[in-house]
Amino acid sequence: MKKILKSYIESIQPYEPGKPIDEAKRELGLQEIIKLASNENPLGVSPLVKERIIENIDTFNRYPDGGCWRLKKKLSQQLGVDSDEIIFGNGSNEIIEFIAKGFIEPGDEVISSQYAFLVYPLLTKVCDGRYIEVAAKEYAYDLSAIAERITKKTKVVFLANPNNPTGTYFNNKDFDAFLAKVPDNVIVCLDEAYVDFVDATDYPDGLDYYQRGNVVVLRTFSKASGLAGFRIGYGLATKELICYFNKIRQPFNVNAVAQCAAEAVLDDSPFINKTKYIVRGGKRFLYKAFDVYGLEYIKSQTNFILVNIKKDSRDIFNKCLQRGVVVRDMKAYGFDTYIRITVGLPQENEKLVSILEELL
Ligand SMILES: Cc1ncc(COP(=O)(O)O)c(C=O)c1O
Repeated sequence: MKKILKSYIESIQPYEPGKPIDEAKRELGLQEIIKLASNENPLGVSPLVKERIIENIDTFNRYPDGGCWRLKKKLSQQLGVDSDEIIFGNGSNEIIEFIAKGFIEPGDEVISSQYAFLVYPLLTKVCDGRYIEVAAKEYAYDLSAIAERITKKTKVVFLANPNNPTGTYFNNKDFDAFLAKVPDNVIVCLDEAYVDFVDATDYPDGLDYYQRGNVVVLRTFSKASGLAGFRIGYGLATKELICYFNKIRQPFNVNAVAQCAAEAVLDDSPFINKTKYIVRGGKRFLYKAFDVYGLEYIKSQTNFILVNIKKDSRDIFNKCLQRGVVVRDMKAYGFDTYIRITVGLPQENEKLVSILEELL
């Protein structure tokens, strides 16, 4: 098969997701495992989502609404955007794929930062594009340096704000200065997967930018909304761009259960508010513990914290796992002594801290 495989596919390293809890439990013979590895919502699925899914269970023999019509209407009203300016995807990852499929041709340049989300280089390579990684500045994006790297061959710039895995953000002043330097024929993908957790008051809200013609804003129901397993996210852009993405997508790319769940969670602001409260409190607790143990960490605008444990991160990952907590080792991002910890429930954060105390 190698002979007929596209020549550039073989060198691609597949994305390595966090370990599934059930598999880890089975392997290690543990009764309980706490997962602090994939930036999911520690509160679980909203009660309202559960209720609506059960209410609608008998409709799931049908194909889903291919245009997500009802969900689109509800979201457009909540966000104050036009329905034609929204596209839903099987997770926001799928919208990244639409951008790649729609715009990246072999040899085209795609730019992002060092320590950016690994799906950007992955999908660039799948389209045989040339991925350019610009050095970060104190762990955060260096937007001026990124703008300087734009050439005639550049098609897309991927910017996660805040960024995964560093938790850093760029402010509206820097983003405005950056956009002023970007030609109209370069797509700027502003990935706001963690927007719900941002506390910074100078954060550039994607809603102020998605109508610029070359900006695509990505958001997801996987994080604060607690629907990671359902797979649903969305993109906001001009009608023209949304129309192109609609040509690329599968007719039923978002399943009916995910649409039902997303509609329900849009009605559950108490659940989202509780999530934000838990995450904010959890971050305060973890920062304090890291300070006590003298561990360096990066202040985060997300629901996770990148922390330097000054030891081999794979080794600490394994030892945490043996003790019933899954974190994320950061070797794939070039951080050999860092782990990324998703903020959990108070008792989960406490357990992690007690394990780190023992190990470090
Ligand atoms: C920066 C960033 N963008 C996009 C995603 C994709 O989210 P999903 O496909 O679950 O919507 C993630 C998930 O971890 C992420 O960290």
